[in-house]
Amino acid sequence: MRDGVAHATDWIAIIFNPSMPYRLTHMLIASGLTVAFLVAGLSAYRWLKGDRSPAVPAALKTGVWLAALLIPVQIFVGDLHGLNTLEHQPQKIAAMEGNWETGPNVPFLPFAWPDEAARRNHYEIAIPNGASLILKHSADGVVPGLNDYIGNHPPVKPLFFGFRIMVGMGLAMLALSWLGAFLLLRRGSLPPLVARLFVLMSFSGWIATLAGWYVTEIGRQPWLVTGVLTTAQAASNVPAPMIGISLAAYLLVYAALLTAYIGALFYLARKAVGATPASKAYPFVPVAAE
Ligand code: HEM
Repeated sequence: MRDGVAHATDWIAIIFNPSMPYRLTHMLIASGLTVAFLVAGLSAYRWLKGDRSPAVPAALKTGVWLAALLIPVQIFVGDLHGLNTLEHQPQKIAAMEGNWETGPNVPFLPFAWPDEAARRNHYEIAIPNGASLILKHSADGVVPGLNDYIGNHPPVKPLFFGFRIMVGMGLAMLALSWLGAFLLLRRGSLPPLVARLFVLMSFSGWIATLAGWYVTEIGRQPWLVTGVLTTAQAASNVPAPMIGISLAAYLLVYAALLTAYIGALFYLARKAVGATPASKAYPFVPVAAE
């Protein structure tokens, strides 16, 4: 900081910061998973709608297998990523875990309602020692608590729920892709119910990725650069209504683009139905008629 202005002095150190290998790997795998579920979901949709072109089973199998291979790696890398965050941004981990007091034997909370005003959780469902075991690999491992960072930790609810949405999606991806891969191996096809589940999960990668970004970006608040520059110090002095108008415009444009994109995807998938002559129809049955 010089005269209250932050200056970057070492770009190499900024880019190759201690969390970079974990973020880059986790993000690249997230992109692969997003595509795998989109391809599997749209292919399952096309097959369920009666599209018998050879591309459909090939794409469906590719999506299912790619997802089944990538998701365990993603969970493993996510765990390493969390350990790295614990070292460099412990207050972010405390908010993700909804843990208020630093101490040993901290439970993992699949659900709770964090109350920042009362500095406690309501309606906790707890797995004893879970957070200590995940983060310190020992039941009496000490996990940081939010009360050590009063005034210096991110808002708790968005992190607590954002993290659970990301991990919940990850576990659903694991269950469905492994079930799909198992069925493809065993019987060479998917029952219609499983195919429908793939259609339902078509956009799961986007949801998990957005939840992950929210955890990361809200999680470093109140800092823009942890320990160096706060978001408040760097905030623009453009009047709030102006920023509100451009934000609303962005949201509208992106909502329109997203609606058009999803609409076009499913429109093209439906349009392809019947385009393949029966003589060229693929003999493999990726979705069994039951
Ligand atoms: C299921 C187990 C998972 C675990 C344990 C996990 C763990 C984590 C952790 C600890 C962070 C944030 C760390 C930080 O900002 O310091 C994170 C961020 C993130 N996660 Fe996950 N994750 C999981 C699944 C997923 C899945 C399935 C996806 C997407 C398909 C995903 C996408 C992301 C993204 C995009 C970020 C933000 C990365 C960044 O911008 O740096 N995660 N994850």
